[in-house]
Amino acid sequence: MQDFDVHERRMWGAAGVATAYLRGFGGLCAGAVPALLDQAGAAPGVRLLDVGTGPGTVAAAALGRGAVVTAVDAEPQMVKAAAERLPEVPVSLALLPELPFTEGEFDAVTANFVVNHVADPVAALTELRRVVGPGGLGAVTLWPVVGNQAMDLFGEVLEQVGVERPVFPAVPVAFERTTDGLAGLLEQAGWQQVAARLVSWTYRVDPEDWWAGPAAGVANIGLVVTTQPPEVLAELKHVYDRLAAARLDADGLLALEAVAVLAGGVRS
Ligand SMILES: C[S@@+](CC[C@H](N)C(=O)[O-])C[C@H]1O[C@@H](n2cnc3c(N)ncnc32)[C@H](O)[C@@H]1O
Repeated sequence: MQDFDVHERRMWGAAGVATAYLRGFGGLCAGAVPALLDQAGAAPGVRLLDVGTGPGTVAAAALGRGAVVTAVDAEPQMVKAAAERLPEVPVSLALLPELPFTEGEFDAVTANFVVNHVADPVAALTELRRVVGPGGLGAVTLWPVVGNQAMDLFGEVLEQVGVERPVFPAVPVAFERTTDGLAGLLEQAGWQQVAARLVSWTYRVDPEDWWAGPAAGVANIGLVVTTQPPEVLAELKHVYDRLAAARLDADGLLALEAVAVLAGGVRS
């Protein structure tokens, strides 16, 4: 396993991450799901594999469209969360860039905010292509580097408290986190008719739920927050509360603008 993958396992495997993820980040990621499933052609009877399913948000929505859904994730706690949420869906453990399925077993494959968590994204996308049959569709998303108020809020908190972000292991194969960058990865992985676009939505979330992720160690911001001494942690929360309060809507929720890169392709 490369350093980056070890880092990812440490991040996603920490105790309590699945529950905290569902409260905050999971809701944010859910905003991309309708467009992702359109791109993947999710419809009644379509055999769809959702990879890196987390707590099963894409799987649940695909099931709602009548697809025949299978789901996998690299973390046992995510597999458990998805399986409890969706008893009718087979959910198992699988670590990209390898999937425990035969070639062409599915009609469509999705990975919502997952391929950027794998040290070799092209190998991951090649494996996604392998498990769909000829004519099968793939759809994936990732966050662009800039443009997400949701993440910017945490960045502002760190800055105001004066906490420096450590340098975490980066994806060894550099690629642009843009439509062209993600489309290029799919093409390198052998996908045909590749198309990529930006998808945007507003994420409405209770500020306590939004803080629950960092506080429980979810994502890189969580690793930064949970490794601070208690007095710094208290200061981070204090500043977060102040900044969040200034952004609340009349209903007491944060309304955060989000944008994702969505790309899809066809297996020839
Ligand atoms: C940002 S979350 C997205 C979860 C879900 N797709 C969603 O939309 O809410 C990333 C997920 O990818 C999983 N993951 C990370 N690295 C993985 C890998 N190498 N293979 C499979 N899943 C992985 C994590 O455990 C986590 O559940």
